[in-house]
Amino acid sequence: MRFGNNGSNRSHISSVKTVRSVLTDTRTHRTHRTHRIRQTRPSLVAMCGIVGYAGQRPAIDVVVGALRRLEYRGYDSAGVALVGRAGTLSTMKRAGKLAVLDEALARSPLPEAGTGIGHTRWATHGAPTDPNAHPHLDESGTVAVIHNGIIENFAVLRRELEDSGVSMASETDTEVVAHLLARSLSDGADLAQAMRQVVGRLHGAFTLVAVRAGEPGRVVAARRNSPLVVGLGEGENFLASDVSAFMDYTRTALEVGDDTVVDLTADQVVLTDPAGRPVPRREFTVDWDLEAAEKGGHEYFMLKEIAEQPKAVADTLLGRLGPDGRLVLDEMRLSESEIRDIDKVVITACGTAFHAGLVAKYAIEHWTRIPCEVEMASEFRYRDPIIDRQTLVVAISQSGETMDTLMALRHAREQGARVLAICNTNGSTIPRESDAVLYTRAGLEIAVASTKAFLTQLVACYLVALYLGQVRGTQWGDEVAANVAALSDLPAKVDRVLETMQPVRELAKDYAAASSVLFLGRHVGYPTALEGALKLKEIAYMHAEGFPAGELKHGPIALVEAGVPVFVVVPSPRGRGSLHDKVVSNIQEVRARGALTVVIAEEGDDAVVPYADHLVRIPASPTLLQPVLATVPLQVFAAEMAALRGFDVDQPRNLAKSVTVE
Ligand code: AGP
Repeated sequence: MRFGNNGSNRSHISSVKTVRSVLTDTRTHRTHRTHRIRQTRPSLVAMCGIVGYAGQRPAIDVVVGALRRLEYRGYDSAGVALVGRAGTLSTMKRAGKLAVLDEALARSPLPEAGTGIGHTRWATHGAPTDPNAHPHLDESGTVAVIHNGIIENFAVLRRELEDSGVSMASETDTEVVAHLLARSLSDGADLAQAMRQVVGRLHGAFTLVAVRAGEPGRVVAARRNSPLVVGLGEGENFLASDVSAFMDYTRTALEVGDDTVVDLTADQVVLTDPAGRPVPRREFTVDWDLEAAEKGGHEYFMLKEIAEQPKAVADTLLGRLGPDGRLVLDEMRLSESEIRDIDKVVITACGTAFHAGLVAKYAIEHWTRIPCEVEMASEFRYRDPIIDRQTLVVAISQSGETMDTLMALRHAREQGARVLAICNTNGSTIPRESDAVLYTRAGLEIAVASTKAFLTQLVACYLVALYLGQVRGTQWGDEVAANVAALSDLPAKVDRVLETMQPVRELAKDYAAASSVLFLGRHVGYPTALEGALKLKEIAYMHAEGFPAGELKHGPIALVEAGVPVFVVVPSPRGRGSLHDKVVSNIQEVRARGALTVVIAEEGDDAVVPYADHLVRIPASPTLLQPVLATVPLQVFAAEMAALRGFDVDQPRNLAKSVTVE
């Protein structure tokens, strides 16, 4: 059951209150309440960090601490609302990173409270200003709301509110919710009922969390197609976009399904459907290491996460292949006979996860002989893909909340396809909506640029390919065993790569001023090249392109001029000789045109030595597995370039970790 439009066009707005009865951050309201802001373009807010708390601790400490954990989700403004034990509502919000809010709170502390909500924002439209920051209040200042997602019909609702005399304080879509909640409350609804009534009028994807003056100890939330999870404590409870927000306090979490309203106090959490009926509860335990949420002596989370890759890869392999060679999926709702019936695999994902999918295609087709397509999730449903009950759709996502991937998954299931999720986040939406799940065990990844999640996605893809090959009999037991052994060697090999990264860091000094960097590879080296280029764009803000090395002569070679750095991922010379030789020729082609070549090649490959301006050695491995090793220097290079160029390595501009809008 979904929250539906109540079918009535009758305006719920009958009167306009203008008195602000609460203790709010006067700077914001003094500046912006006095004149009406003209709506010139939609102001959409998405991919934000959301937190709610009810308990005995000082709510401000819990909420701000949780926002610090969530800041990687969005960081262009931040705000909090607290309800004191006497029922007073107080708020503070600031444009800029959380540190700006922190300073403001230190200068003007809010009154003590045991209930609070907090928000870090990532805006897709509309300036990241103080008034656009969350929370948003109704006109009487009794309801405070924070929001992640997009309210698609907000313009209609806003007009309706303005026509009835309501004055808007911000450009956001969120603010309409505060006014609509206030209206329902003044009509006699309680906060949870009001939330149900209001979300019934909303179109789009959202998580909403609200508190109300005069109701200390209560936080109400709702979600539709946007992340929300509950943390269950002793005499305290939490709400958040993801579990990292409350890992300091509890490891017991409660899933929140779509179209659910959460009514939370310190002692109980009630989940209801749009009609107000209780919904089934599903608890899970958070097994992420708390240290993952700290930098552990590293300057940036990204560097720490790069360093954690040997463990992440080892953890992802651990116990996955039972003694009989069967892959152990975390949740399996697919029978072996269904797997035998599969006649096509379609992988769908975004960004880095898409690159993992491209590598998986080579492994799946080689090991299973099942045709495999890889489709960017944002394009998937728009091309009307040919899928049916015999198609296995593999959705890869670190966060488990990427909206493009979720929508692709839903489209696939509507067409009857089976969906297998490869995901890093327990309790997230994508695994919940899939037929089978293989969790990567990268642990919490905080840097926006994905590193350890990528390596573990690769490993999970190899495991799936081997499993399919085994069930369908396209791999003999000894072949599977040899591949498993090669996989088991990877953690130690990644470790060895990491030990030799100093020259790569030095190299970044030479190229920090370059205007463009190119990446070439063939076979699985091609997605590796794409990933190297994405990392550099994402955090060092440099023009970077990844190409199939053989495609260069069909156009991109025109970009090569004297001094352009070109990274080349060279396949193993063992086993696929012609592939290796062709890449060596491609190195010569770019070098002949003045490129400075950075060659990533396995130990003992002497053929590349004459053509490499810089040579980066990686341990020998089967070509299919090479991306796990060859990607590491590219990650290190990108991180170093970003730092040298003076950028925030973990929180690159314009990006957010979890992309929960389409
Ligand atoms: C990776 O460095 C990027 N930040 C981004 O491409 C990311 O991989 C993509 O948005 C998909 O995210 P997901 O794995 O959480 O679905």
